[in-house]
Amino acid sequence: MKKIKINGGKELKGTIRISGAKNSAVALVPASLLSDGIVTIDNIPNISDIDALNEILEFLGAKVVRDKDRMIIDQTSLENKEIPESKAKKLRASYYFMSALLGKYKHVEMYFPGGCSIGARPIDQTLKGFRALGAEVIEEGNKFTIDAKELTGAEVSLDMPSVGATINTILVAVKAKGTTTILNAAKEPEIVNVATFLNNMGAKITGAGTSEITIKGVNKLGNGFAEVIPDRIEAGTYVIAGALMGNSLKIENIIPEHIESLTLKLKEMNVPIKVHEDNLIVSRCEGMKSVNIKTQGYPGFATDLQQPMTSLLVYANGTSTLEETIYENRFQNVAFLNSMGADIVIDGRKIYIKGPKKLKGKEIVATDLRAGACLVLAGLKAEGQTVIKEVEHILRGYENIIQKLQNVGADIILVDE
Ligand code: EPU
Repeated sequence: MKKIKINGGKELKGTIRISGAKNSAVALVPASLLSDGIVTIDNIPNISDIDALNEILEFLGAKVVRDKDRMIIDQTSLENKEIPESKAKKLRASYYFMSALLGKYKHVEMYFPGGCSIGARPIDQTLKGFRALGAEVIEEGNKFTIDAKELTGAEVSLDMPSVGATINTILVAVKAKGTTTILNAAKEPEIVNVATFLNNMGAKITGAGTSEITIKGVNKLGNGFAEVIPDRIEAGTYVIAGALMGNSLKIENIIPEHIESLTLKLKEMNVPIKVHEDNLIVSRCEGMKSVNIKTQGYPGFATDLQQPMTSLLVYANGTSTLEETIYENRFQNVAFLNSMGADIVIDGRKIYIKGPKKLKGKEIVATDLRAGACLVLAGLKAEGQTVIKEVEHILRGYENIIQKLQNVGADIILVDE
């Protein structure tokens, strides 16, 4: 069992370079199947979620070459096979294969995807998109058999701006006949990254990054190239680390606009932070002010930074509130923070964090990816040793987290015991 051990209280100084965005890369890789040629994707993060997708690609017969952060995918010998449930349930993003294969072959058989246990996470909006374009969906337990005689462009109005449903509808519409319009689409930067990639292969997508996206179907897509955008959630996590323990900690390779909802909150708390064109410098701050935060779709405060942010709010003066509007079960970090000395009360979808409190190292568990990130941050400042179990969740989404933190002065190791 892998564990992370942290001896807290070490100043963080130097530079952390941000890797490619997990949530972009995990969509770009399956999207590559729509190409009728060869695609190259640069700045791929080295995380286990990508390894899981790589396995699925190879299972389907794609030839994949990985060289550092570059991935070259040749799907000229692809076969439309049923992806085994054991592979599909390793991650949420496996459902991008559902739409890419349906878009390419008009038939797909696949299982319900996996992903962090942070709420119900249905896929009804994705299926709504498939059905609107003319596909018939048969659900048998966890298995979906989806078939379309023809995929025809349509208007798809999403009940909520779901990232996954927006990307899945784009993927299935790219080669459909006629024009598809997605209303109430999600506006996350990862969607723009995927649309730019597909357009680069010959797709005709406009409006990505807004709530109305139009896709004019094309018959063929050529070779493709994409560069994964910097990971705004990884960046935000290390910015929070800097606010906890930084001494002019530099976070580089960022798109400042993508993390503005976070940096504005940190400024409101009095955290010293200087934002430059593609980097920022952050230092710790005594006497932080409490704040109120509500998670929202982009450009609002990202749900994926809600748990990491909790470890900072523990040290703010007064009562902060954090309201989670996206997921119903994203507070599993709270009990562990409380066991370390925090005073946090959960009331439905809202938590009240009374500060400032001092945390003490404990043995705790990473129940999901961002809960794990929250606990790493807590451990960086806590007095004494923090031991985090079930860290596989963290390694799914943060490239070289141990080395990146060690390089700036953290006392953190990964052990297998
Ligand atoms: N929802 C539905 N029906 C659907 C789709 C979504 O009810 O068909 C609901 C979900 O239950 C949830 C909300 O809508 O309450 C948002 O779901 P969304 O589809 O936006 O999430 P996702 O596409 O499953 C992606 C990221 C998440 C991130 C959300 C932010 C990937 C692989 N995952 O999830 O990332 O929190 O967008 O909205 O891109 C993470 O990185 O830790 C993570 C969980």
